Amino acid sequence: MVQVVESRERPALAEQASESFRVRWPEFIFHDEVSRACIPKVERYFPNFDLWLLEEESVVAGGWGVPLSWDGQPASLPGGYDGALLASVSAFEAAERCDTFCIMAAAVAVEAAGRGLAGEVLAALRDRALAAGLGRVICPVRPTLKSAYPLVPMARFASWRRPDTSSVDPWIRTHERLGATILGPAARSMVITGAVADWEGWTGMVFPETDRYVVPDSLGLVEIDREQDRGTYVEENLWMRHR
Ligand SMILES: CC(C)(COP(=O)(O)OP(=O)(O)OC[C@H]1O[C@@H](n2cnc3c(N)ncnc32)[C@H](O)[C@@H]1OP(=O)(O)O)[C@@H](O)C(=O)NCCC(=O)NCCS
Repeated sequence: MVQVVESRERPALAEQASESFRVRWPEFIFHDEVSRACIPKVERYFPNFDLWLLEEESVVAGGWGVPLSWDGQPASLPGGYDGALLASVSAFEAAERCDTFCIMAAAVAVEAAGRGLAGEVLAALRDRALAAGLGRVICPVRPTLKSAYPLVPMARFASWRRPDTSSVDPWIRTHERLGATILGPAARSMVITGAVADWEGWTGMVFPETDRYVVPDSLGLVEIDREQDRGTYVEENLWMRHR
């Protein structure tokens, strides 16, 4: 039996949760400057939107999101993950009224994968948002299969369908099964920069020349500039809207 709790209700499980979820992401994802600056504030401002799924007092899945204001027009969506973080923090600090909930991330512990728990996390977040009066629910989706196609633009990848018309991507499928529709690509969802040595440490690869590289679990290419000692990765995500 799965129980939904706010993470703040189980402080003793924080370490187990962070260990279970951290291994599910590539290391470079934790080095987005906007995210690093905003996350401590998000944790203070919106603890009610940080949920875990527990099974016998063990964290098997989790997800979180932020409230922001959006007029419902695709043209005025935030830039992506970073943009949504900045918008939510500034709306909170200006005491603005929010009308939209943005699902930022969800993860399932390796040992609990493939049982549909991710969909339960999304549904729990969405219910929580609606109960808080946030009538619109959006998500800058990071499709799990996209890293196998780093050269393909997101808009084209998102249009790839199986014979039954469902998406080729399991994470887009999960959102669509819950009634979400695609709004369009979020071209600059996250921006991650670092020295060449940082990128080598994060990826376990070497980058001997200035060039663009495919790295494990990136959705696009990483630009390495040896002369400037700089590596830059701009992640494109996919805006989806839930009913
Ligand atoms: C994405 C994630 C949350 C899905 O969790 P999950 O509970 O295992 O997923 P589900 O059981 O709901 O499976 C959803 C679909 O993905 C498929 N699937 C699950 N794991 C898969 C894998 N490793 N490879 C390919 N397909 C997979 C399932 O078969 C299912 O497909 P279906 O539509 O044909 O039924 C989980 O893989 C995860 O934590 N990944 C790392 C973090 C991440 O990328 N989060 C999403 C971006 S915020």
